Amino acid sequence: MHIPTRLALLAACAASLALPAAAQPAGPIKVGLMLPATGTFAALGDMIEKGFKLHVQEQGGKLAGREIQYFRVDDESDPSKATDNVNKLIKRDQVDVLVGTVHSGVALAMAKAAKESNTLLIVPNAGADAITGPMCGPNIVRSSFSNWQPGYSTGVVAAQKGYKRAMTITWNYAAGLETVKGFTEAFEKGGGKVIKDLSLPFPGVEFQALLTEIAAQKPDVVFAFFAGGGAVKFVKDYDAAGLKKSVPLFGSGFLTDGTLEAQGAAAQGLQTTLHYADSLDIPKNNAFRKSFALTYKQNADVYAVQGYDAAQLLAAGLNAVKGDMGKRDAMLGAMRKATVDSPRGKFTLSAGGNPVQDMYLREAKGPNNEYRSVAVKALADPARGCKL
Ligand code: PHB
Repeated sequence: MHIPTRLALLAACAASLALPAAAQPAGPIKVGLMLPATGTFAALGDMIEKGFKLHVQEQGGKLAGREIQYFRVDDESDPSKATDNVNKLIKRDQVDVLVGTVHSGVALAMAKAAKESNTLLIVPNAGADAITGPMCGPNIVRSSFSNWQPGYSTGVVAAQKGYKRAMTITWNYAAGLETVKGFTEAFEKGGGKVIKDLSLPFPGVEFQALLTEIAAQKPDVVFAFFAGGGAVKFVKDYDAAGLKKSVPLFGSGFLTDGTLEAQGAAAQGLQTTLHYADSLDIPKNNAFRKSFALTYKQNADVYAVQGYDAAQLLAAGLNAVKGDMGKRDAMLGAMRKATVDSPRGKFTLSAGGNPVQDMYLREAKGPNNEYRSVAVKALADPARGCKL
């Protein structure tokens, strides 16, 4: 046998020995971030992305030994563009995981596309009840909340405080309407009555006529759902109309989360309920806020927490299968069974794939939504219509 032939044989043997290694999952995991980068929710999308990337960075830039490659689409919080946008990630970029979004209407279109293509979807904000209700599926989980949860917990608190007549005000779309529904359910169960629901189209900020109506009706309390840029304007207008002194303003915590600096004095003292409070004094939150501030030179908010936990959920799935996304059932099962060590406190997922979590009463003080008490312990979304 010629030397070169023997060498070739040796090389072939070496190659076959190397085969098992070559069969190991290789290359990056493709993560498609579909978030708003423009419009009234732009800052929220930014914080979700920062939170997600912070967790990945804390793991050395890899999850379960796999590099993470990001693909991004600005969804503009526009439901009419949502199907086209999500298909850029699913069909064009062929991502392994979809992460998005903020706006409930856009997220509903994402959930539909994820179901049809069997793509893994992690929702890091949008609360649309249907996503973990009638549309629930093994490949869809949420790291945030259902719209029902913060609405319901604020209703519990408002009734406990003895308010009897409430008015509600929100944008006329899924998140606003479902949050108000949750509020009404708990408030009326607690002995109150919602005397009038007010709304305006998303993302409108022409509040004057509605504020005049509140002043005329003089309810005991107003419940509001607004977020992002719209929440900044609403809280300022409510104060400027002289209502802050005469009619207590309650809201789900999005009213004052990530917005306090821009709202200034108008937001100080406002009480809200949410699954997070800036000042929550637990080791995980303290470490998270420190790490976030060091990395980004700004303070974390609830959206950053939800982004961070979306990455934690993905990591829980990937770690269980050592990075091999081919073991899909095992990966999805591990995500659904995970206990997430969140800055908000530990949470698990309900059968519908939504966090079962404590809801906190908070008060806006300085730059923080300060923790006051647990409004409702381990609140699980009822997941009405979810069959899994
Ligand atoms: C939603 O559309 O589901 C939504 C948007 C912003 C929030 C919360 C919920 O802060």
